[in-house]
Amino acid sequence: MGQLICKKCKAAYSLNEPRWKCDCGSVLDIEFEPVFDLEKIAKRKPTMWRYREAIPVQDDANIVSLDEGFTPLTEVDFGGRSVLVKQDQLFPTGSFKDRGASVLISKVKELGIREVVEDSSGNAGCAISAYCAKADIICNIFVPEDTAAGKVAQIQLYGAKLNKVPGTREDTASAVLKAAEKIYYASHYWNPFFLHGTKTFAFEVCEQLGWQSPDTIILPVGNGTLLLGAFIGFNELLNGGIIDKIPKIIAVQSENCAPLYRAFRENLEEIPAIDKKETLAEGIAIAAPIRGKQIVEAVKQSKGDFISVTENEIKEALKEMSKKGYYIEPTSAATIAGIKKYLQKQNLQEVIVSVFTGHGLKTTEKMLTIINAVSIAHRIY
Ligand SMILES: Cc1ncc(COP(=O)(O)O)c(C=O)c1O
Ligand SMILES: [Zn+2]
Repeated sequence: MGQLICKKCKAAYSLNEPRWKCDCGSVLDIEFEPVFDLEKIAKRKPTMWRYREAIPVQDDANIVSLDEGFTPLTEVDFGGRSVLVKQDQLFPTGSFKDRGASVLISKVKELGIREVVEDSSGNAGCAISAYCAKADIICNIFVPEDTAAGKVAQIQLYGAKLNKVPGTREDTASAVLKAAEKIYYASHYWNPFFLHGTKTFAFEVCEQLGWQSPDTIILPVGNGTLLLGAFIGFNELLNGGIIDKIPKIIAVQSENCAPLYRAFRENLEEIPAIDKKETLAEGIAIAAPIRGKQIVEAVKQSKGDFISVTENEIKEALKEMSKKGYYIEPTSAATIAGIKKYLQKQNLQEVIVSVFTGHGLKTTEKMLTIINAVSIAHRIY
């Protein structure tokens, strides 16, 4: 029932081998034949595991779940134009990363692995920690020193061992590779089982639209775990004859850290080295995404586009969503700023789907700086 494959050197490995990368050093993907029985799916409880036969975990006994998923697809008004937004900030750990963590940690349990390492800007670390807690697996999380306090607290309370790494997000990624020489790397961006969890985003969207594909999806992209998962999911539905097209993917990056936007716009063969600046969108501040070329290729294949957004646009989008009652992370507000830019030029007939990826309660320090900036502005004017 499927295998791990390397698209670079064409090597193949068993799904039951505890490996997260190819011997040639490249990333692995999963070749797998999903099954969609729509009648069966409709009768199951509203979680992402309703698509059970499309998820590459063999034994039900290994499923590690907190009843996550099937998040609301909510109509949000953008100046008279409605966009359907998946409320993935409502997951148990407060971000969409639970999709990937539930499947990856289920597979980890199936492999009989008792300890994992993971690195993260915060949210993936929270998700992996929570599912390890549920499965009683020892968990070591590496995060940059300046990670949001809310995320750090969450990781520790789930019982994971926290390693704060001085320096940049890239320094954290290097530090974890050393630990991964000895302990299984439950990486959200290296490990393809994570993407076979995030792909349920596509399944849910299509089911919620009456098993139709939207015309366009607008997603944030850092390491691309949601984007690549969604791309896999829509393609599986297309190949299974469930939908008749895949949506155009519009990928949003922060202007202060936009290597993929640049690679796409300048039609570069390689992802360029960039001079990363600080951004409110901490979750997508990834200067050297491991699956970068795969992400650009997916956007191209979908006939999509990249959009970059400024700090001010992120701030405005966050305030606008809060005024509507949606409390989301600044990283998620970057996507909303991307929607606003996209709507300036798109065709009005399109069905557009986007996402709130993370909960605002995770980033109180950043929220306070935004409030303080607003109140200072009010005092001056
Ligand atoms: C809230 C939030 N949104 C979006 C993303 C981007 O996800 P990815 O890096 O998988 O593209 C992240 C990643 O950490 C995140 O935490
Ligand atoms: Zn290889």
